[in-house]
Amino acid sequence: MTKKLSELRSRRWFADAGMRGFSHRQRMQQQGWRREDVMDRPMIAIINTWSDLSPCHAHLRERAESVKKGILMAGGTPVELPAMSLGEVMVKPTTMLYRNFLAMEVEELLRSLPCDGAVLLAGCDKTTPGTLMGAFSMDIPTIFCPAGPMLNDRHVQGGVSRTIGAGTHTRMFWDEYQAGKLDASELVALEARMTRAPGTCNTMGTASTMTAIAEALGLTLPGASSIPAMDSAHPRMATACGERIVGMVWEDLKPSRMLTRGSFQNAMAVQMALGGSTNAAVHIIAMARRAGIDLTLADLDAMGRRVPVLANLFPSGDRLMEDFYYGGGLPALMKTIMGELALSEMTVTGHTMAKNLETAQVQDEAVIRPLANPVSTLGALAVLHGNLAPQGAVIKPSAASERLLVHTGPALVFDSQPEMLAAMADESLVCDENTVLVLRNAGPVGAPGMPEWGNLPIPKKLLKAGVRDMLRLSDARMSGTHYGTCVLHISPESAVGGPLALVKTGDIIELDVAQRRLHLQVSDAELAARRALWKAPVQPFKRGFTRLYQEHVTQAHEGCDFDFLQGTEPTPEPVIF
Ligand code: FES
Repeated sequence: MTKKLSELRSRRWFADAGMRGFSHRQRMQQQGWRREDVMDRPMIAIINTWSDLSPCHAHLRERAESVKKGILMAGGTPVELPAMSLGEVMVKPTTMLYRNFLAMEVEELLRSLPCDGAVLLAGCDKTTPGTLMGAFSMDIPTIFCPAGPMLNDRHVQGGVSRTIGAGTHTRMFWDEYQAGKLDASELVALEARMTRAPGTCNTMGTASTMTAIAEALGLTLPGASSIPAMDSAHPRMATACGERIVGMVWEDLKPSRMLTRGSFQNAMAVQMALGGSTNAAVHIIAMARRAGIDLTLADLDAMGRRVPVLANLFPSGDRLMEDFYYGGGLPALMKTIMGELALSEMTVTGHTMAKNLETAQVQDEAVIRPLANPVSTLGALAVLHGNLAPQGAVIKPSAASERLLVHTGPALVFDSQPEMLAAMADESLVCDENTVLVLRNAGPVGAPGMPEWGNLPIPKKLLKAGVRDMLRLSDARMSGTHYGTCVLHISPESAVGGPLALVKTGDIIELDVAQRRLHLQVSDAELAARRALWKAPVQPFKRGFTRLYQEHVTQAHEGCDFDFLQGTEPTPEPVIF
């Protein structure tokens, strides 16, 4: 398919014969563009999620210049459009509150402006699904340019030198500090060392999971998601993105021509083989629904049972993303699991996934394990059901303690994050290693925004006694960089009356991951009596975006998108006058 110049979307703005066309051309020339630059070339938007409070994206202004270079070389006209940045660590209460905001912003930026194609510059956790969801809904040719992971660091402790990275080690070292095994000066030194270069978290957290999923969906150049942000291959990849998007515009290669059930099968298989973040369970479903594909938690559970964890990366393994790149990167991993992939799916290269993977090769089997020697056969994701989670909950067995995958214990329930944190620091707290820690009012509506509170800290007194994991339950999410036996995304959430709202301290909770069972040992009659007394928490958000969010967000098993943004119902192009 070849598009003609007269069919470019931007022509509606610039080739208009009336006064509006005159003023649109005038305003571009005001910025130094020549008349022919807007009349005779496709206009490519570079959606840039750079900001000074998004350290993972610190290099994206420079990368935008590389993308522009590629666009110009291929005969396009680049325009850079800033979008909400969503630096995972700085944004409160949680970036998840704003994923849909970013998706709306990207969709409406592309719709309201003369864009023929888009390059998405993103990578930190929610910025990948956020920008992609918006681009899927807008459905113009789009390529995703991942920010890339940060570099490894090394830390010497007790005379032993080891590789360390962001996220997983933050929690590890903090627990060591709480337990009195790390002194304050070492902690201060680690602050400066653990994240020593721009780029996304270098463990297999949500960022690396979601950029890999973008690649598995066929939306990046082959291998792009594994390139470290500070490698010279990264700006070269950005230039190639700019060059390729111009070709995609002429070929009219847009998301709806690439996204199929098969491409989402590839995304799920990659999540499992990577030992990817549990957050992907929410994002994959949301993205699929934007593409008109009805994906469910059952699909994810089935893939989690079939595909073992092969990438030896924290938190399931013991290496980092830089090692993964040297080991062959995502194409090599995908080649290893080719039997689970839909290989005829179209990608941004204009070729099928099979063609893209032709030359891929594993370079280091210690990092990308063969199927015969997986990192874990427990699965990167399991979906649980039971009277506590009628619509499902998730757990990451590969990052959990094997001894807790079948567990029965008494609940210790907290209604809020501050109450829970205060209790964990209280050394007189009544609990032991068999206690099941429960946090509620932490879901999409309740928190609001379903923050990453699901990796509840271990009570300080138990840390001192050497306990490093306990069964923890919540309607929250967990950082993909974290580990532990954490049941997450319990749906429906407590704030809308899910059964989690009815649990009392001392109730007995059963978990059996192999049986996919999460059960509260309380009779139906007693639960009904508790429900009759239950009152929804009073919400303080009477105006603004948070009110819109609480009124329209869907539950975790549905992807937490806004109900009015799901689906593929077309939105009319803007009237130009
Ligand atoms: Fe940005 Fe982890 S904080 S990827």
